Amino acid sequence: MDFKLMVAQAIAKASEIDIETVESALTTPPNADMGDFAFPCFVLAKQLKKSPIVIAKELAEKMQGVNSYIDSVNPEGGYLNVFINKAEYANSVLKEVLSAGNDYGKSGEGNGKNICLDYSSINIAKPFHIGHLSTTVIGNALSRIYTHLGYKTISINHLGDWGTQFGKLIVAYKLWGVREEVEKGSVLALMDLYVRFHDEAEKNPKLDDEARAWFRRIEDGNDEAVALFDWFKKLTLESVQKIYDLLGVEFDSYAGESFYTPYMPAVIKEMQDKGVLKVDDGATIVDLSEYNMPPCLILKSDGATLYATRDITTAIYRKNTYDFHKLLYVVAYQQSLHFKQFFKVLELMGYDWVKDCEHVSYGMVSLEDGAMSTRKGKVVLLDDVLTAAIEKSRVIIEEKNPDLEDKDEIAKQVGVGAVVWLPLYNNRIKDIVFSYDKALNFDGETAPYAQYTHARCCSVLKKAEVFEKMSELDFNGKLLNDLESIELVKSIDALKDSIRSAAEKNEPYIIARRVIDICGKFNRFYYERRIMGEETSIQNSRLALCAATKTAIKIGLYLLGVNAPERM
Ligand code: ARG
Repeated sequence: MDFKLMVAQAIAKASEIDIETVESALTTPPNADMGDFAFPCFVLAKQLKKSPIVIAKELAEKMQGVNSYIDSVNPEGGYLNVFINKAEYANSVLKEVLSAGNDYGKSGEGNGKNICLDYSSINIAKPFHIGHLSTTVIGNALSRIYTHLGYKTISINHLGDWGTQFGKLIVAYKLWGVREEVEKGSVLALMDLYVRFHDEAEKNPKLDDEARAWFRRIEDGNDEAVALFDWFKKLTLESVQKIYDLLGVEFDSYAGESFYTPYMPAVIKEMQDKGVLKVDDGATIVDLSEYNMPPCLILKSDGATLYATRDITTAIYRKNTYDFHKLLYVVAYQQSLHFKQFFKVLELMGYDWVKDCEHVSYGMVSLEDGAMSTRKGKVVLLDDVLTAAIEKSRVIIEEKNPDLEDKDEIAKQVGVGAVVWLPLYNNRIKDIVFSYDKALNFDGETAPYAQYTHARCCSVLKKAEVFEKMSELDFNGKLLNDLESIELVKSIDALKDSIRSAAEKNEPYIIARRVIDICGKFNRFYYERRIMGEETSIQNSRLALCAATKTAIKIGLYLLGVNAPERM
């Protein structure tokens, strides 16, 4: 039973105003003494032609005793404060969570509609550095969240596998590379070759011409060029797979930039036919000055296509292939202009579905000791960050719980969780400074804290020997009428709304904050209320609340791509 909806219905009926208006205005008061829900009557003042104070009074009178789920309704100023029947409420929430288990919060609202997610989108022959953390974990979280809501998600790794840099790499490899060394050093060896190319090309500009020639050969399908390029691609994908495995990230498609080469001529012709192209100083562009943007470059003067040309082609291909309900690009905010430009070009081409495309942007991640740069080969590898976090959590676990079984596996889950959490706990657009100490703080607003609380719930349930049969627990909402229990029930109930609004805003942090709130409420409950040793009916009701907490935290963490070990 949805109590918020029920209250909204009662108010709508009493005021004769449509339910949508009422429901969207219904809020939760800052503290529980004021009521469980508050309705700001000024939103009806215009329609009802009365003052909010009068409306609140009249509604309160009409609503007394309307249903057994509402205890009382009080007017206060222009607000209508609604107190719900706590016992019924607790019963209904616990019943729902315990019977749904890990399906709690799932819904069919997506109705199988397709959501295309473009994320991670790594570049071939470049290492997976910390700059790719956010796109990877935000994209993964969004994919899980939308799936939970009944959408079908298509996760696409739009590989950066096209451009003259691959010609440079071939030249560098042929001049200075040793197959075995590159095989062993993988992406890092490729990066060294790339850096060396740049140093040498400064002295010897002829190298750039050679690089262009080799890139042409890749495009023309020359055997040697293609074989080398495919090898670079294989090395990159193999090395990144380890990280994806650690993060629990999977893709449905690895169609990258080069995949769209054969589709481009038709799209360029279409743009020509639709009259959006213009030749400017030899280059082919779409003039966007009318929209206060620099021109979108479609073809260079030598006829080469550009990043935007590929993205325009890609979007059209995705619409034709997946008929998406939404196409989300999880890409750093530095590329905002690029997205604005090519979205506008699609609009000018007459594609009204461009309104379903969104640039889901995010801020920068840097390490505490200063920002990072990919130039000159100085990069912070995500692999190194994850390894260090895992090692550090191993040390903490060793200290806290030396007898724990499976320490390595759990250290892995905690270390990875701590890192993954960073881009998920704040508004996407916020820049983040990474610190191991803060990320691994078991008492902070961190993944390890949530994991620890989850493990605590598991341990309580196991000690009580009900872990295996949580769904069969007998509970009575009347026995959960203390403040700590009610607050916890409310926070668990709110998870459903948090999941929905995370999807609506493409902001996983809404779930992360909810999880931390549930943990805080649980820990307060745990310290204030005895569970074991109480009278059986109280004990069971509290165990049921503990089981619902465990389930809610686990689901919340899962949706964020974080594992929840049962022991820690
Ligand atoms: N490979 C690009 C980068 O690392 C991101 C690609 C994002 N996706 C897209 N369709 N443009 O910056």
